[in-house]
Amino acid sequence: MKDPAATVMERIEALGHVSDDATCLTRTFCSPAMRRANGLVGSWMRKAGLEVREDAIGNVIGHYPGATPHCKVLLLGSHLDTVRNAGKFDGPLGVIMAIACVEHLRGKRLRLPFAIEVCGFADEEGVRYQSACLGSRAVAGLLDDMDLRRTDGRGVSMVDAIRHFGGQPARMKQARFDADRLLGYVEAHIEQGPVLEEENMAVGIVTAIAGQSRYQFTFTGRAGHAGTTPMRLRRDALCAAAEFILAVEGYAARKAGLVATVGQIQAAPNASNVIPGTVILTLDVRHQIDSIRLTAGVQLQKLARQIAAARRVKVSSQLVQQTPSVACASKLSSLLERATKIHQSRIIRLPSGAGHDAAILAGITPAAILFIRCKGGISHHPNESASRHDVRIALAVLNDFLRLLASEYGRF
Ligand code: HGY
Ligand code: MN
Ligand code: MN
Repeated sequence: MKDPAATVMERIEALGHVSDDATCLTRTFCSPAMRRANGLVGSWMRKAGLEVREDAIGNVIGHYPGATPHCKVLLLGSHLDTVRNAGKFDGPLGVIMAIACVEHLRGKRLRLPFAIEVCGFADEEGVRYQSACLGSRAVAGLLDDMDLRRTDGRGVSMVDAIRHFGGQPARMKQARFDADRLLGYVEAHIEQGPVLEEENMAVGIVTAIAGQSRYQFTFTGRAGHAGTTPMRLRRDALCAAAEFILAVEGYAARKAGLVATVGQIQAAPNASNVIPGTVILTLDVRHQIDSIRLTAGVQLQKLARQIAAARRVKVSSQLVQQTPSVACASKLSSLLERATKIHQSRIIRLPSGAGHDAAILAGITPAAILFIRCKGGISHHPNESASRHDVRIALAVLNDFLRLLASEYGRF
């Protein structure tokens, strides 16, 4: 029998070549590469004996029936989209490992007292529409018309993108899972940080997921001739933005546990001999404690106004999306810990600074995350990697988790 961990690694490799960009791995919401990814993942799901469907927003979902009809459903999975110039593991590892768990059950002709649905979410990173977790928000019933009206960098609305992809924006309500039928959601995901490597452990149990706020700032100065406009007469939007970006870094560096990042910036008219008149930038603020994150958002918007005023530049800001800090479900996490103890000498419990679909699903059902060590803690980068050894341990933990959940099913 082929090593399931080897199959997982081969599939990670194969999916890692499904990209919208020939020079690097980038696969965004409702893109041509996402269409190919859904096709490939759907074929693996069918091979594992899952009944495959695509929902209204383009999530690819595989159903593995339980021992009896109308039984509750355990959700497994993660997201299939990536950031730009991404690594291969962030997202796909959770989906491909979930398929491997169903293959394991099918290989033993096992039906559990609950059904399993493997979810490949269509968007978690929010690269195309700046609004994260579109796929899991659709199944949690949290997507609203305002989201659907968002437009991407080329002015394509989310409704049109979904339609073009083959989704059904008008049937978004039907994508919502019936929370009463759900047993919970468990996501396997690379840690995207250094802790498991420092502890020299393959897997860890996530205690909580940091809350995050995503803002968009617009600095409006006055475009002008780079050669004829004296420095004292300038209202340079990019200089104001630059001062703000360094102020963000300084503010976050002084607050324990706070991280704040300006990841995206556009200057207009973006010509080397024109003083930038307008700058649009994104701000991502996160902390395990919501009150600290919210205060940081208010303070940083105040800082932006002060900097802009001193430079006779205008500034506006908009909260694009925020997700509160979420504690992982204790019952599911304790079963993950019991399963981990079978395969690992120590239990590592750790918070997640990264956002995950589990934070959204936690709004409708108990949710837990199993972290897998990744090399150097590197993520959102082509060098992101996990080892077959650690994937093998994580698969064994997940398979034992399912066995324990089935044996304790009556208590859930
Ligand atoms: O940004 C994040 O935390 C996640 O990788 N989407
Ligand atoms: Mn990510
Ligand atoms: Mn992720």
